[in-house]
Amino acid sequence: MTVKRKILVTAALPYANADLHLGHMLEHVQTNIWTRFQKLCGHECISVCGDDAHGTAITLSAEKKGVTPEQLVNQVHQERLQDFHDFHIDFDHYHTTHSEENRELAVQIYQTLKDKGHIISREITQVFDPEKNMFLADRYIKGECPRCKSPDQYGDNCEVCGAVYSATELKNAYSTLSGAQPVSKKSVHFFFQLSDFTAVITQWIQSGAVTEEIANKLKEWLDQGLKDWDISRDGPYFGFELPGETNKYFYVWMDAPVGYMAAFKYLCDRKPNLNFDEYWKPDSRCEVHHFIGKDIINFHCLFWPAMLHGSGFRTPTKVHTHGYLTINGEKMSKSRGTFINVRTYLKHLDPEYLRYYFATKTGPGIQDYDLNMDDFRQRVNSDLVGKLVNIASRCAGFIYKHFNGQLSRENIAPQLTQSFQKKAEYIASCYEKVEIGKAMREIMALADSANVWIDQQKPWVVAKQPGNEIQLQNICTVGIHLFRLLLIYIKPVLPEMVSRAEVFLNIAPLVWNDYKILPAEQTISRFKPLLTRIDAGQIDKMLDENKTSATPTEQPAAKQQGNCWITEQPVAQEIDFTAFTHVDMRVAKVINCSHVEGSDKLLRFEVDLGEEKTRTIFSGIKNAYQPEQLTGKYVIVVANLKPRKMRFGISEGMILCAGGEIPYLVQPDEGAIAGMPVN
Ligand code: 2FM
Ligand code: ZN
Repeated sequence: MTVKRKILVTAALPYANADLHLGHMLEHVQTNIWTRFQKLCGHECISVCGDDAHGTAITLSAEKKGVTPEQLVNQVHQERLQDFHDFHIDFDHYHTTHSEENRELAVQIYQTLKDKGHIISREITQVFDPEKNMFLADRYIKGECPRCKSPDQYGDNCEVCGAVYSATELKNAYSTLSGAQPVSKKSVHFFFQLSDFTAVITQWIQSGAVTEEIANKLKEWLDQGLKDWDISRDGPYFGFELPGETNKYFYVWMDAPVGYMAAFKYLCDRKPNLNFDEYWKPDSRCEVHHFIGKDIINFHCLFWPAMLHGSGFRTPTKVHTHGYLTINGEKMSKSRGTFINVRTYLKHLDPEYLRYYFATKTGPGIQDYDLNMDDFRQRVNSDLVGKLVNIASRCAGFIYKHFNGQLSRENIAPQLTQSFQKKAEYIASCYEKVEIGKAMREIMALADSANVWIDQQKPWVVAKQPGNEIQLQNICTVGIHLFRLLLIYIKPVLPEMVSRAEVFLNIAPLVWNDYKILPAEQTISRFKPLLTRIDAGQIDKMLDENKTSATPTEQPAAKQQGNCWITEQPVAQEIDFTAFTHVDMRVAKVINCSHVEGSDKLLRFEVDLGEEKTRTIFSGIKNAYQPEQLTGKYVIVVANLKPRKMRFGISEGMILCAGGEIPYLVQPDEGAIAGMPVN
């Protein structure tokens, strides 16, 4: 008899300031498939999640929308419940970090850590916006790089020369929130002394809580020595106040993971059979599994186990980490229409298509996942419609029409059905290890062999031979048995499709152990198509809608967010015609183009504009072009750009490029080149 496990599962709590997109869904689909599998096996498996509601970004989004942070968080919460529901992500509870349960638990954890001497306070100097009257995180400060003097660099590093610095070192700094010149200001902050837990974390890693790949990454960090973690922020800040302090708040990342416990607590307070302490006490025999993206490993595998251990709770059983989502091989991009919101996807396509596609790609590693639209369409059409559903559609009609839906009591292919049953254990072990892609490949291999067998038996030929009725019923019965076994195996991935199939097969909702027996008596109903093919037009429409509905945001998004890569084109402000006429654009010949030692972005150009002297221009297009490709080419140069002093020399103009992350050089046509002065 299998032991009934008690398992708590979480997916990372999405920030409450933006729509859910397909990057979020990658993680939620994986988590939900794993959870559904555990439930199907009969374990007590509780899945919780919620909105990550605190922090400056939420306040700013609310301000932009003209609502309070609380109003924003509530509104987003409702929309998300619908998004998740429609994607068949059925949490046991979806909570929010802005809740009483979370406040109580965060305060309890903080207080215990403080009482035990793991939290200290000290004064630090930070950049302060005197107009907004608030301290600024690095991403809200811009200015001139202290090293190469490039303008408009963020508060922590320079994108031109790669310098790393602190925001107080920026020259001519300004707040991106108000435009005001920031000042340095002192303030007392509270720090969690992570290094007190080096041994605890090391032991936790060795317990098998993470894969070897992640363990190696963590070891690098541990070897460098763990630094104190700043867990407080000064007001105004949307969050919980630190107990016993004035105008100090928990940093959003301090109370975010506590949100996992809070969501579970909310459920325990309402379900008498669930006991919070049973799951969270230090020697708990229950399991806690977190699913996260690779960008938040440090929070979940260093800070979180330390916080839990230090405050008298158990540490997580496992942290399952995945890579980011790319679309058509590139980071998600609003301008390319590939920044796809969950709602937009749902308007055009069945969520189970994507659940299956993500499932085929899911493994325990942290490589990125690509959603290639052509591959997506072909895989879904070929596997789900062409292989899986095809088994039923080839057999069910005959049973319904010729035998009143009655399946045969005889099994004419016991070896074949047994070979399908024998795979249950292997497929279950794949699900358990989050090797879901392997499980899908096995299921499709079985579907192939079912179809091959049906091809050999040719029920459509048998149906035409009078006197062969029993043979026809027997063949189609085997087909339905095989189909039913595959439904069990794929149910965690395609719950709705399987539920429709259960209705037409007239069977009770399938559970994992149902693979052990084949029903002796069964009458099926009329077969209805369970899933239709994806038409390329549906995908095109979805992408088109995205292109038009994507709204520019105020500032470029972070490099990755919510489990995906994002590139967001900052949309330049409108300028009038006169302003444009001030730009002196000229055709120039590239006399020489070379690498710039020490820079991974820049190329150095010597260009001839037909002037007395050639000009030197530095251009950050190394990610798209090799210098040898460009020597001898003609380009367009902004000739009247004020010379800029850079770390590698003075840049005397700008080479025109278009596009986003990957720039395209703008080149003149041949007519212009023919008219070029020759020096
Ligand atoms: O990275 C993020 O999107 C965070 N909101 C995840 C939080 S997970 C947990 F710790 F709350
Ligand atoms: Zn610089």
